[in-house]
Amino acid sequence: MDEPRYPLSRLTSLGVGGRADRIAFPETAGELADELRRAADEDSPVRALGGGKNLLVDDAGVPGTVISLTRLRELSVSGTTVTAGAGVPTGTLVSRAVRKGLAGLLCLVGVPGTAGGAIRMNAGGAHGWIGDRVTRVRGLTAKGEPFTFGRDACAFAYRTSRLAGTFVTEIEFDLEPATDDQAARVREVYAAKRFAQPLEAATAGCMFKNPGLPCGESAGKLIDLTGLKGHVVGGARISPKHANFVENRGDATSDDIRALVRIARERVFAEFGVELDMEVEVWGREESALLVA
Ligand code: EPU
Repeated sequence: MDEPRYPLSRLTSLGVGGRADRIAFPETAGELADELRRAADEDSPVRALGGGKNLLVDDAGVPGTVISLTRLRELSVSGTTVTAGAGVPTGTLVSRAVRKGLAGLLCLVGVPGTAGGAIRMNAGGAHGWIGDRVTRVRGLTAKGEPFTFGRDACAFAYRTSRLAGTFVTEIEFDLEPATDDQAARVREVYAAKRFAQPLEAATAGCMFKNPGLPCGESAGKLIDLTGLKGHVVGGARISPKHANFVENRGDATSDDIRALVRIARERVFAEFGVELDMEVEVWGREESALLVA
């Protein structure tokens, strides 16, 4: 199913972004393969879209085809093995595991988006990393070639993996039987996140990676120390709650958000000599200019 005139702002949590030439919503790996073949035949670029929760799309839009993987939503549990389609929402994944008496997904609590996006970015932090729970990933390369990777082949690292640029269809996780009240732990972790992060606002999560390997200092803390919390450009502002989040207050443009990214980066470099790298993926003009500090 295509909706070629659909603006990408409606498919991203930041709520900005123009149109793609084509948007496809395959419901099976076979339909995904058809889309990739079609794009290859037309020599047109293709991009994978998950929940759109970690993405800044330019208001001018992007050329080629955007393939949303959100309709790949099968989910099954067998013993301690959970198998999820790339489009299964992270919240659904966590709650199904908890209902089945399984532990190991606290790292996804309060992380919006899809299973595919979470592993592509190796989501996680204080409660571990999702890559550590992955046993197998299936998908297609942009050329439509199928692959199956074990955990090592995924090369999970801080907020990255070898899955960038691929089209993940299905992920297998190995969890463990819960030894405590997981539902209570999930509530606790969620409450702590809600206290520290503007989960209610239109954001793309943390804008920058934490600098230093692996993730030494909090980028949010550095931006906060420069006094930029609450700083506004047009319809966007640096969150007063957590300075590594940029909020769309309703009518932000992609340029407003880019301006805040530049200001935060310049101030942190001027005051601490630290270069902040983008964590959020950028689509559109100057993709690489924003991605490389
Ligand atoms: N802090 C400030 N001011 C701020 C923000 C943070 O002083 O504006 C301080 C906090 O008080 C705390 C320290 O900095 O002492 C660390 O803050 P926090 O616990 O919020 O963690 P973080 O390093 O800023 C990372 C991840 C988050 C993840 C949290 C919790 C990155 C870039 N961020 O944030 O991930 O949720 O740990 O595990 O790695 C994301 O990637 O989108 C994201 C939200």
